[in-house]
Amino acid sequence: MKTFIKIVAALAVLGVVALGLIIFVPVSKTAPVALLSTDYQAPEGHGKYVMRLADCKACHTAKDGKPFAGGRPIESPFGTIWSTNITPDPENGIGNYSLDDFRAALYDGVEPDGTHLYPAMPYENYRKISEEDVRALYDFFMHDVTPVAEKAPETDLSFPFNQRWGIRLWDWLALGDAGHKSLYDDAVLDRGAYLVDSLGHCAACHSPRNAIFAQEGNTAKDSTYLSGGVIGGWSAPSLHGANSAPAKWTAKDLADYLSTGRNSHSAVAGEMTQVVGESLQHATDEDLHAIVSYLRHINGKPKTDAVAQKDVGDGTNAANATTTLLASADPSMPLGPRLYLDNCNACHFVNGKGADGVFPEIDGNSLVTADTSAGLIDVILNGAVLPSTEKRPARLAMPDFGHRLSDEEVAELATFVRQGWSNKATPVTAAEVADIRQKTAQK
Ligand code: HEC
Ligand code: HEC
Ligand code: HEC
Repeated sequence: MKTFIKIVAALAVLGVVALGLIIFVPVSKTAPVALLSTDYQAPEGHGKYVMRLADCKACHTAKDGKPFAGGRPIESPFGTIWSTNITPDPENGIGNYSLDDFRAALYDGVEPDGTHLYPAMPYENYRKISEEDVRALYDFFMHDVTPVAEKAPETDLSFPFNQRWGIRLWDWLALGDAGHKSLYDDAVLDRGAYLVDSLGHCAACHSPRNAIFAQEGNTAKDSTYLSGGVIGGWSAPSLHGANSAPAKWTAKDLADYLSTGRNSHSAVAGEMTQVVGESLQHATDEDLHAIVSYLRHINGKPKTDAVAQKDVGDGTNAANATTTLLASADPSMPLGPRLYLDNCNACHFVNGKGADGVFPEIDGNSLVTADTSAGLIDVILNGAVLPSTEKRPARLAMPDFGHRLSDEEVAELATFVRQGWSNKATPVTAAEVADIRQKTAQK
């Protein structure tokens, strides 16, 4: 018993010491990963380009708000986290940040006074940004962004998540080395890996989270890397593995999706809409090619297609059975397919193939067959709008059906599309639809 008490006492002392260390040892800022001369100047326009590829604006601008003035809510499992004002206003923004302060926010997730940022700011990924790009970003924010003298809403999570010093412990466990490590002696693949892992922060949404909510898998060698995550209740599909889009699609289809939000199979919806509209559509052709080549490479594919091909889910018997049923227009068919014929067929067609670059495929579509059906239900209830991009300026929209269809009807319809053609996903219940209807009505 005495030893037991001794052990408990020793642990308590250790705990207090650890806590003391966490709270009182000053936070150290990561040093630059490369030494550039103090008068280094990023090429003209590079800062804005890097900002776009890193998509800073999407998170740091409220709906209809002033650019970079913050106030966009980011839902986390612990409550709502508000993005901050990052305009160069000295009072409300980052006007007083030195270059080192700025790098520390990107690399270490700390403010100049040592306050820890929630990892809703993707510093897990931005840690890999090169010093050239950090300098270009800093220059852009200090000189090219209009200061906005407005306070962004304060983040106010409940206890214990409002104890920001606790994030320090998380940082110790979750953060890898700063800087991008070259894994390929191929400039295109290396550039692709850099863009995906650092600026693009694709893993922030597309990688699963481990027990402490850190991104799983650091490089393409880890099977969990980019193997699919959940964001705002939606599934961000896997980009790594035999069933992922980069493994199944042609290089052209992947490039079309990333730069215009649409291709012959799919169309962007949900959080990815902003990624395409604000960020990826602005990538140069070389950078787009680098991202596509890298995503194909990690899936064992050559950088470009040998021959143009279409290779997703068509031609199976199951696909034909659904097509035949719908084409028969038999009035006695079950409710699910009947609702599809009445509401969806005009654009997505009896074969569920839609029209190339206009109406996405329903057959073999990863949003439709995702483990979590929240995204599909959301799209049926609330519709979706494709971003207008330079290459494809038209804004195409999928209408909303929430006002027209009951929870039961949406459940029947969603179950049908999840199991029609070659799709094999679990059914949807009316209770799930009611839940999504209620949650999305508050937006
Ligand atoms: C996925 C959303 C997201 C993206 C993308 C993002 N940020 Fe943030 N950022 C946040 C959130 C949320 C906070 C506030 C976190 C907190 O309160 O702990 C934040 C905080 C910051 C801070 C600290 C600001 C302050 O007022 O103390 C800076 C600086 C910053 N971000 C810069 C950037 C830059 C530069 C980029 C682009 C390279 C960027 N952010 C991209 C979400 C994002
Ligand atoms: C803010 C979260 C977020 C970020 C960051 C993000 N994505 Fe996505 N992505 C999603 C979601 C959600 C979807 C599903 C959209 C849909 O089904 O319409 C998606 C879909 C995709 C798809 C289509 C997959 C399929 O099977 O249909 C590709 C390809 C893709 N993303 C690539 C990327 C790349 C490359 C990056 C980084 C440059 C990236 N994404 C960054 C959330 C994100
Ligand atoms: C007027 C034409 C039209 C009708 C009718 C229509 N859709 Fe769509 N649908 C679209 C367009 C355009 C998009 C692409 C919009 C986007 O993803 O932002 C789309 C997107 C989708 C997506 C998302 C696909 C992806 O890859 O992210 C799903 C799922 C979908 N529709 C299902 C349905 C269902 C189910 C119905 C019937 C209730 C239906 N649609 C009716 C035009 C239509």
